[in-house]
This record gives sequence, structure tokens and C-alpha cells, in this order.
Amino acid sequence: MDETQLLQTQQAFDSVAADYDGPRGNNELIQRMRVTLWDTVCAEVPAGRRLLDLGCGTGIDAFEFARRGYEVVASDWSPQMVERTRARAVSGGLEERVNATHVGIHQLEQIDDRFDAIYSNFGPLNCAPDLNAVAAQCERLLRPGGLLIFSVIGRICPWEMAYYTFKGRFRRAAIRAARGATAVGMNRHTIWTYYYSPREFYRAFTDRFTLESYRALSLFMPPPYLVDYYRRHRAGCERLGKLDDRFGAMPVLRNMGDHFLIVMRRR
Ligand SMILES: C[S@@+](CC[C@H](N)C(=O)[O-])C[C@H]1O[C@@H](n2cnc3c(N)ncnc32)[C@H](O)[C@@H]1O
Repeated sequence: MDETQLLQTQQAFDSVAADYDGPRGNNELIQRMRVTLWDTVCAEVPAGRRLLDLGCGTGIDAFEFARRGYEVVASDWSPQMVERTRARAVSGGLEERVNATHVGIHQLEQIDDRFDAIYSNFGPLNCAPDLNAVAAQCERLLRPGGLLIFSVIGRICPWEMAYYTFKGRFRRAAIRAARGATAVGMNRHTIWTYYYSPREFYRAFTDRFTLESYRALSLFMPPPYLVDYYRRHRAGCERLGKLDDRFGAMPVLRNMGDHFLIVMRRR
């Protein structure tokens, strides 16, 4: 990924920052996945500890963790997103606990601090140009034994394959099979995205972090962009969501889903 691609990705997210808290960035299906990350962080890290958010977006997670008593440094490559995070913290009276900073995941050397855990929600790490460098920076930023808790866009999303195949958009149906930085359209802009299986993703971290767990997010439940389908078939989809909760961490199934949630511990 080159500088131009990074800037295109930045412009894409800048362009949606203003309406990101609505259906685009925070509909019911996204909220459901969000809660899984919140529960995982809160189960693993006692309140009061220091967290770093990579790709914080408009700060929904950072705000929630601050509300629960954590101290959060919330970073993002999109200045508009950082501004939204800052405004959210100020309007909620939590600016003492949320420090919003314009730092890309590829610029983590700019952060001089120490954290108990680093989290990233809904795929910012899919936009990072060099995962090996991210792993090295995370090791530097974490105290020994500290945790990484990331939700990452996966390769095998059966809903997506079925949906786009049904619509006759075969290339879109197969996009997650692509190797290297792949152009994905959003709001007439381009997000440069790398897709990973959990094993491919972990490879960059393996020397510095042990793999604690990983699980599928939205494997049975439709992905967030099918929220209209979800609203028309709410009861049935809720049953599918229960299958995600129950079976999403099982071998084989945990390699699929719209995203996967991976937890790693610093060696
Ligand atoms: C799908 S949004 C998720 C936002 C937020 N984590 C959430 O849960 O709502 C992806 C975020 O990653 C950010 N991003 C993209 N590339 C990035 C990079 N290289 N470094 C840091 N953030 C990046 C975008 O600006 C955007 O805010």
C-alpha cells in the first residue's frame, strides 16, 4: 500500500464521518458485534486500566469504555473521525478519560505511552499497510502480559458470497479472496483493504504474542449492510444470532463470518 492509497482511504472515511453514527456505522447488526468486543475487553481488563483504540472512528467504543471507568487514547487516521471522537467525549463530559489523537496505525511510533490493552473494532487493521510493523509497535506500547483485542474483516463470509452471487455480482462475491491491497468502494471513494483469515492475521504477531482465542462475528447473522433484510426477518435473524453466540468459537466455524474477533497476549 502506498501513500496515495493511504490518503484515499483517509478521504473515504473523512467523507462519512458526519453520518457514521447512523445506519452506516452503527446499525443494530453493528451494535450486536460491538457488544461482543465490549464484553471481551471488560472480561479481560479491569476498569481503571489504560486502553489504546486503533481506528476509533467516531469514538463510540472509546466513549463507552471511558464511561465504564477506563482511560482511553483513541487514535484514527481520519482527522474528521478524530474530531467526532473528541466532540463526543466533550459533550459527554468524559474528555478527561478520552484522549483523541490523529495518528494512523502505520504511525504508532508517534505514541509514547504504555497500555494494559489495545483494541481495534470493525476492521481498521484491514487498512494497515504493514502488520509486522503494527505487531512490533503494539509490543512496545503494551505492558508485559497486556492484551490485543481486535475485530478484523475475514475472508470467508457465506452471507456475502450468497448475496452478491444472487445479484450476479460475481467479482464482488469473491472480493475477500483477493491477495494484497484491494480497492473497496464506499461513498464514491476507495478504501484500500487487506483481507485475512485468522491464521493469516496471527502470523504477523506470532513471535511477540500468544494466541488466546478467536471467534466468528456475524457468521449466521447477516452482515451489517444487510440490515434491511434483518429488519424484515427480525425474529429469525435473532435466532441466527444465538447460533453465533453459541457456535462462533468452534473450530472451523471460527474461521468464517463477516469479521472475526481475535485475542492475543504479549509474550
Ligand atoms: C469501519 S471504521 C470503524 C471505526 C470504529 N472502530 C468503530 O468501531 O466504529 C474503520 C476506521 O478505521 C480508520 N482507519 C482506516 N485506515 C486507518 C489507518 N491506517 N490507521 C488508523 N485508522 C485507520 C478509519 O478512519 C475508520 O475510522
